[in-house]
Amino acid sequence: MQNIGNVIQYQIYQEMINPEASSKKLSIAYEDWKERARKLLEDGPYYYVAGGAGNEETMKANRNAFEQWKIIPRMLRNVEKRDLSVKLFDQTFPFPILSAPIGVQSIIHQDGELASARASASLGVPYITSSASTIPLEQIAKEIGDAPKWFQLYWSKDRDVAKSFLQRAETSGYSAIVVTLDTSMLAWREEDLKNTYLPFLAGEGIGNYLSDPAFRSKLEQTPEEEPTAAIMYWTQIFGNNRLTWDDLPFIREHTTLPIILKGILHPEDAKLALSYGVDGIIVSNHGGRQVDGAVASLDALPQVVEAVQNEIPVMMDSGIRRGSDIIKAMALGARAVLVGRPCMYGLAAAGEQGVKEVLQNMAADLDLTLGLAGFNSVTDLDKSIFHKA
Ligand code: FNR
Repeated sequence: MQNIGNVIQYQIYQEMINPEASSKKLSIAYEDWKERARKLLEDGPYYYVAGGAGNEETMKANRNAFEQWKIIPRMLRNVEKRDLSVKLFDQTFPFPILSAPIGVQSIIHQDGELASARASASLGVPYITSSASTIPLEQIAKEIGDAPKWFQLYWSKDRDVAKSFLQRAETSGYSAIVVTLDTSMLAWREEDLKNTYLPFLAGEGIGNYLSDPAFRSKLEQTPEEEPTAAIMYWTQIFGNNRLTWDDLPFIREHTTLPIILKGILHPEDAKLALSYGVDGIIVSNHGGRQVDGAVASLDALPQVVEAVQNEIPVMMDSGIRRGSDIIKAMALGARAVLVGRPCMYGLAAAGEQGVKEVLQNMAADLDLTLGLAGFNSVTDLDKSIFHKA
């Protein structure tokens, strides 16, 4: 959609001129979506989404990092026609926005991942299906149809399960594999411990495992007959903290798709990723949910970008809330960003429509802010737009 910012803004303001026109607007600000979600969700699910590791220092750092950078807008540069599209792995996407892999969405809304997937697909935003989805990856792929979709792998300790996930993803039409490296174990999450809440133990977020032939073959009875035994096996094989860089060829052996490592923060790890021949990197601290007191994702980004010297695309997430955040991340070298919690608050508040509005409004905000900062294309952004406070 050309100049999506003007289009969406116009739709909303139409209500003033023509009260019959309805923009179907639910909420606009991130904070309002979050507040709606808070009102609708019980403590357990709400804090599972909103909480982070430890004292949530990393979560705070993520936001502080964005606030440190100040855009210096440029004037008189003809910004009538703007282009938000980006190219990644030979595919062109309408916005530099991807839907972050998020598991267990059934605790947030009855339609869970299907609602999010539909919303993303309707806008052409790539949906990254999580290994920890409640709905199996094949069903999500079907819902997305021809729209772009990637699969996120939690690299199981059971190699047969890891291999099977990779094969299933490729067979169902996913076009890239995101290997999340920062979650070999679940972190010390104080809210979840306080609420005694881990959805997986209630059978949520393990749909890919329960439906997996390799996983099922390891059980004496089927998960339908003996769900507790299946969940217990899941707890044993979910993560793998023995992995090293030398295990990476295993992934390459079992997929022909581009491999993107998620959770890279250190420039030396970025160099290792390059030397092992991966196709992309996502700079991420998992939204502050894993290592408390970690570097903000945005602060880690420039060094990672420098380390890979444009050889492979670098994306980022953790703390993206508005259009200006995307501009800052891209000016520091990100080729695109992943949006996490904002979509989950939209999902909690209004299912598919909520997620759609969150993503669409973010793209609209990005479009207007880009033009007002003096740029026609997100791909032209660089550090020259900045002053650091
Ligand atoms: C996540 N994230 C995540 N990442 C991943 O690779 N696989 C997963 O299954 C999940 N699940 C998940 C659940 C919930 C409730 C949240 C909030 C996050 C991390 C996600 O992909 C992304 O890195 C963060 O959400 C980015 O941080 P913000 O922007 O949400 O703060």
